[in-house]
Amino acid sequence: MTKPVIAIDGPAASGKGTLARALAHRLDFGYLDTGALYRLVGYSVLERGQNPADHAQAAEAAYFLRDYFTPDLLNNPDLRNDASGNAASKVATMPEVRKALLDLQQNFASNPGGAFKGAILDGRDIGTVICPEAPLKLFITAAPEIRAQRRLKELQSRGIEATYEAVLKDMLERDARDTARKTAPMKPADDAIIIDSSHISAAEMLEKALDTAMQRLGLSA
Ligand code: CDP
Repeated sequence: MTKPVIAIDGPAASGKGTLARALAHRLDFGYLDTGALYRLVGYSVLERGQNPADHAQAAEAAYFLRDYFTPDLLNNPDLRNDASGNAASKVATMPEVRKALLDLQQNFASNPGGAFKGAILDGRDIGTVICPEAPLKLFITAAPEIRAQRRLKELQSRGIEATYEAVLKDMLERDARDTARKTAPMKPADDAIIIDSSHISAAEMLEKALDTAMQRLGLSA
């Protein structure tokens, strides 16, 4: 029997990662942060001293990672910095890079690991491209100013210096690139449930999503 999949999409710092992680923990589902895959490609290109806007260099890094991927690569703290995030959103516009990462994501969705009861993937195109058949799709949004505040706090908590203005500008640029690109642009699937997290706490959002997941997937926590 196939295991259920929950697709969670949304823009930067919308709270989708926090929600996905907590939901996976409560439901005993495996979790894949697909943004980290794109960050890993962007970071690898930068580490090689190459240019993330160069299609051939980005595609080569993506295929290399596909072939030598292990989940612990995603734990590298350098993936979380802005340089990796920016490089990620550049390589993510390229069809070759997205193609290289497709099987990896779909394989995880259909086989999250023996002990898990299902899979949760978060990203930009999970409900539309990677797992269009997922029985539950959530799209998490929040006002840009609120998202920038959250990202700023997150960076500061990791000892990274940043200003609100710079974080907001960077986020808006990244959102624009993610929304405007031709291949797999960020958008809610037609059947996604849209949750605006601007004025609800992470805990409230989790309870809301948990209720929906249990009803929709016929699960008990
Ligand atoms: O942490 P944050 O929400 O800012 O970004 P992320 O989820 O780590 O994703 C980094 C970048 O990867 C995004 O800006 C997208 O350009 C890209 N991405 C994508 O294109 N498709 C996905 N499924 C996930 C991320």
